[in-house]
Amino acid sequence: MKGVILAGGTGSRLRPITHTGPKQLVPIANKPVLEYAIDDLVEAGIGEIGIVLGNKGRAEIQEYFGDGSDWGVDITYIVQGAPLGLAHAVGCTRDFVGDDSFVVYLGDDLMREGITELVADFDPAEYAAGIGLQEVDDPSRYGIVDVDDGGDVIQLVEKPDDPPNNLALIGIYVFTPAIFEQIETLDKSWRGEYEITDAIQGLLDDGHRIQSHVVHGWWKDTGKPEDVLHANRLVLDDIKTRINGTVEDEASVTGRLELGEGSVIEEGAVVRGPVSIGERTVIESDTYVGPYTSIGDECEINGAQIESSVVVGESEISADRTIVDSLIGRKATITTNQDKKPDGERLVVGQNSSLEL
Ligand code: TTP
Repeated sequence: MKGVILAGGTGSRLRPITHTGPKQLVPIANKPVLEYAIDDLVEAGIGEIGIVLGNKGRAEIQEYFGDGSDWGVDITYIVQGAPLGLAHAVGCTRDFVGDDSFVVYLGDDLMREGITELVADFDPAEYAAGIGLQEVDDPSRYGIVDVDDGGDVIQLVEKPDDPPNNLALIGIYVFTPAIFEQIETLDKSWRGEYEITDAIQGLLDDGHRIQSHVVHGWWKDTGKPEDVLHANRLVLDDIKTRINGTVEDEASVTGRLELGEGSVIEEGAVVRGPVSIGERTVIESDTYVGPYTSIGDECEINGAQIESSVVVGESEISADRTIVDSLIGRKATITTNQDKKPDGERLVVGQNSSLEL
C-alpha cells in the first residue's frame, strides 16, 4: 500500500496566514499539520508517500520534508497546480501509484487515532475502495454515507434533508487503481471541481464494492482559523511534559509544558499548561501564558497575557493586554501604544485579517 497526501488547494479560508505559506505547514502544537499525516502513514507501515502540491507553498513543503528520509520514508512530490478538486488531485498520482492500493489523506486533516486500523482492515481483493466515516450530530451539514448491515456502502448523499444515518465522510480514503477510470469520466460539479465523491459513486454504479470504516477518535480539519485553534486545543490535551529549554527558579510553571531547546521562561513569568513553546523563544518576566497556547520558535513575549492562542513564530509580543483565541502569523509585532494621543489602537492590518477589539 502507498500513501498519498493532498497538499494543494488555495487555503482561502485561512487568509491572511496563507498569503505567505501553505496551510499544510501551519503549526499545531509546534508541528506542521502535514507532519501529523506523515506520522500517521509511517505508523500504518507505509513507506512510499506521494505529496500532491498546488501552486502555493510548493518550495516550502519540499524544503521541510525533503526526500522523507528524516521520517524513514520515500517522498515523491507530484504537482497538481490549480486546485481543480480532490478527484483531479488524486488523478495526478496515477504514475506514482501504479498497480498498488493507496490511502489518501487530506493534508490539512488531523486524526487522533491515526489510520493504522483503517489501512489494516482494507481488503483490496473484495473492495475497490474504503472510506473513513465518523458519527456526527448534524448529518444534514455533511456528505452522508448509507451503509448496509455488513458495512458495505450503498450510497453517498451530500447534505441530505432526510439523512439515512449520521455517518459522515471525513476525507480519508483507500483506493485501488480502479478509481482512476472513474476520475477520467468525471464532469465538473456545480462548484467547478472534480469531486472525489462523484468518482466513488461511479465505482458503486459500476458494481464495485466499497468498504466503510467508522473512525472513533476525534478528527479535525484545519481549514479555518477557529479550526486551527480547536485542533491546537485537542492536540495540547494529549501532550506530555518535555523540557529541553530553561525554566528559571522564580518562574511559575504548572500543568504540562513542552519547552524547546534554547527557550527560556524567565523568573517572574507564569505559564499554565498545557502549553507548547518552540525553540529559542523567551517568555520574559511579568508575562502570563495560559492553557491551550502554542508559541513557535524565536518569539519574544514580554509583559503580555496570552491564552488559548497559536503564535506561529518569529514574533514579538509586548502589548500589556490580554490576547485570547488568537492566531498570530509569522513575524508579527504586537506592542502597546506608549504615546496614547489620541487614545485608541494603532493598527497595521494586512489583507483578509480579522480583528476583534
Ligand atoms: P479544501 O480545504 O477543501 O480546499 P482548499 O485548500 O482550496 O481550501 P479553501 O476552501 O479554504 O480555499 O482541501 C482539502 C485538502 O485537499 C487540503 O489539504 C488541500 C487539498 N486539495 C488539493 O490538494 N487539491 C485540490 O484541488 C483541492 C480542492 C484540495
